[in-house]
Amino acid sequence: MNALSATPHFTPAAYSPVGSEVYSGLTAFPKRLSPWLFYDERGSELFEQITELPEYYLTRIERSILSDHADAIISAAARCERLAVIELGAGTATKTGLLLAAVVRRQKTVAYYPIDVSETPLAQAKHRLESEIPGVSVTPRVADYTNGMGHTETRGERRLVLYIGSSIGNFEPADALRILRDIREPLKPGDKLLLGVDMVKDQRPLLAAYNDAAQVTAAFNLNVLVRINRELGANFEMQHFQHRAIWNEKSSRIEMHLESLVAQRVLISALDLEIGFQPGETIHTENSYKFHDEDVIEMLERAGFHLFDHWTDARDWFGEYLATAW
Ligand code: AVJ
Repeated sequence: MNALSATPHFTPAAYSPVGSEVYSGLTAFPKRLSPWLFYDERGSELFEQITELPEYYLTRIERSILSDHADAIISAAARCERLAVIELGAGTATKTGLLLAAVVRRQKTVAYYPIDVSETPLAQAKHRLESEIPGVSVTPRVADYTNGMGHTETRGERRLVLYIGSSIGNFEPADALRILRDIREPLKPGDKLLLGVDMVKDQRPLLAAYNDAAQVTAAFNLNVLVRINRELGANFEMQHFQHRAIWNEKSSRIEMHLESLVAQRVLISALDLEIGFQPGETIHTENSYKFHDEDVIEMLERAGFHLFDHWTDARDWFGEYLATAW
């Protein structure tokens, strides 16, 4: 049997996480791929480069909010108790040091539990944070936080869960709500969540952030095809695809697509699958939702949190929302 036959047949690779995502996404109409596929080793490296681009204001502004308000955020989160800090999608945790240093100023030591799907950045984070901030002890966990954070034992300390960097923006509203509910589930009333989100703003800076002059975002987007070539033996030709980022006003999100420049067929040999593209047809690779203040508050409430306090920058471009589990 082959890909041209009417009944699909599934090779062993079709049951792997990457294989099943690619199979279902590229046989769907319209074609799509999930953004978690970006983050192989090269993709994680390209994302780190994106965070340093002049157009990519998100990381820079969030860092400045955390650096200006770290002590206020931590004292609001702690009240009179000792905090343990859990972070979802921690990555290299470069901004988190600002908050951990503030916790150490209050209580001398802190236990920090970063969770991420990828091991290398977590190991780097542990090494860097423990040497730069005496008093921090890091217990990393390699896991997919979108299936809940499981049970993180914090020895009776008040938990502060960090979900910053606008990572929540990658999910459709219903999935974002489910993730926040999964975060809420193992918490006790009074535990805290710090949620960092990118706000709706004029579309010019939004579009520029995803269409940088140095084309790093284009390379990041196209890298998903490089990954599929390597991991699933596909023959995507990068020069026949183009990065596109558009602002979808109605859905309040930036969309990234890979546009086929020609009519072409691509073979994904490990899936025994051939995919045809029309000229101009796209693969939708990412949504990056942008939020209004009231969207964030409503989403938090529906997930079982009350907004406790909120910090932003002078232009209201990025927001840090501190919420209490109830
Ligand atoms: C990591 C999801 C916050 O949506 O801005 C950066 C990923 N995509 N440039 C974002 C991303 C294109 C980023 N997040």
